[in-house]
Amino acid sequence: MKIVILASGNGSLAQSIFDAVSDGELPVEISALVSDQPNSYVLERARNSGIKTFVLEMQPNRAQWNEQLHDLIKTIQPDLVVSAGFMRILDANFVEDFRVINSHPALLPNFPGAHAVRDALAAGVKVTGTTIHWVDAGVDTGEVIAQATLDVEADDTEETLHERIKILERGLIVATIRTLVPTS
Ligand code: GAR
Repeated sequence: MKIVILASGNGSLAQSIFDAVSDGELPVEISALVSDQPNSYVLERARNSGIKTFVLEMQPNRAQWNEQLHDLIKTIQPDLVVSAGFMRILDANFVEDFRVINSHPALLPNFPGAHAVRDALAAGVKVTGTTIHWVDAGVDTGEVIAQATLDVEADDTEETLHERIKILERGLIVATIRTLVPTS
């Protein structure tokens, strides 16, 4: 199974996938890592792991960016696209033409969007977690594949809570991709 990873920032989730593949724990081929941020650390992580990288910076003409991303992924022809810390909305055409999963740092359908950890803290929830879901044309509205939960501590800040959620996410994304690998 060929996968492409989309990521925008630090890339600790992407790293967990790279490591699982290189340790022989995840039988997939990572065809490429695509980032929209030219200076993101995830690009360095990918290069250090010998993974082909592409940078597609957002541009004023969003439709053109959508098209470029679509064309790039079409050329690679992956079986699965993994959005792991990719902070862009994928357009409807893209998610119709490719199978895409996303890791989200909250228990969907609660707290969709770009500030999920902050929103969960502000709502005062005692339990939160992470969700891996299929990506559809909405924002974090696609079918849930897997979730994992953790308790919010009384002294949690957005940063401390997010760090603990990311530990969960790293395990869950790898485990979920593994369940999507065809068995024969
Ligand atoms: C993760 O918590 C991921 O769920 C979140 O960004 C973080 C990436 O961490 N993604 C979103 O919020 C997407 N809406 P990383 O850069 O260390 O992999």
